[in-house]
Amino acid sequence: MSYCVGFIGAGNMATALAGGLLAHNFSPERLAMSDPRPQALEEHAAKGIFTTHDNIELVRRSDVVVLAVKPQVVTEVLIPLRAIWQERQPLLLSIAAGITLSGLQNLLGGHLAMVRAMPNTPALVQCGASGYFCSDAVQEAQRRQAHEILAAVGVALRVEQEELMDAVTALSGSGPAYCFLVMEAMQAAGMALGLDERTARALTLQTALGAAQMAVTSAVGVDELRRRVTSPGGTTEAALAVMNGKGLKDIFAQAMQAACSRATELGEMLQGSQV
Ligand SMILES: NC(=O)c1ccc[n+]([C@@H]2O[C@H](COP(=O)([O-])OP(=O)(O)OC[C@H]3O[C@@H](n4cnc5c(N)ncnc54)[C@H](OP(=O)(O)O)[C@@H]3O)[C@@H](O)[C@H]2O)c1
Repeated sequence: MSYCVGFIGAGNMATALAGGLLAHNFSPERLAMSDPRPQALEEHAAKGIFTTHDNIELVRRSDVVVLAVKPQVVTEVLIPLRAIWQERQPLLLSIAAGITLSGLQNLLGGHLAMVRAMPNTPALVQCGASGYFCSDAVQEAQRRQAHEILAAVGVALRVEQEELMDAVTALSGSGPAYCFLVMEAMQAAGMALGLDERTARALTLQTALGAAQMAVTSAVGVDELRRRVTSPGGTTEAALAVMNGKGLKDIFAQAMQAACSRATELGEMLQGSQV
């Protein structure tokens, strides 16, 4: 069934998701965007997407409403929408980091169909990874719609407990920064070994891209791929022995535990600041 998707907040994420849907042959007539800034809406209007400054009008014409504003403004955005929401009951797909379903239910009222999702920055280049959690009221057809919207910019995986959204945040939400740090370290180490910056950078980036490409297309896991490129007594084994000796896996476990705990804390702070 064809459904209409409205985005509240025409910023980076809404632009990426709408772009992904259009690239997947979603017709622009099925999309709408609202934002207080006229400039934010111009490029969308030029593509044939309905644009408005009025969030109520947007909810009125959408079957799925993607909440794509900063977490700090969620309360002021949703409170005026309570009446129209109760009347139309669209599916809410919230990508606002840290805002819980109970916080959203408090603002909009009732037993509503809501999906809380956590995309990541590579969604901006259509290569994102999102985790999402559905409220009890979400019907299977609605879950598929939310999945289709998120998967338009990469992969989307459902989690079965809302608490796991903090683990998603620690893994794929913050994960691009971990990968950038590893690449930064490889580039610097390559330069320390005598390579010029341009060469070290290009070799690092293509190696990361190539390894990721092999990992996503291979039938075997990353542990097996690593074993296959680690010959006994070879150069890779020498490098991995240093990393293992320094406890690299432990460092990741501790780092991601810290990110997960911080996501929980920030969510509680946001919850406390909502009316
Ligand atoms: N970017 C990421 O990689 C990423 C990853 C995961 C989750 N998220 C989440 O995605 C959400 C959006 O992030 P973003 O990076 O796309 O932010 P953004 O670029 O700042 O976009 C938010 C847009 O919402 C607009 N806005 C503000 N008040 C509004 C209102 N009352 N009604 C309608 N629109 C309003 C903003 O306008 P003004 O600029 O005028 O305020 C802005 O254009 C955030 O909650 C963030 O936590 C983002």
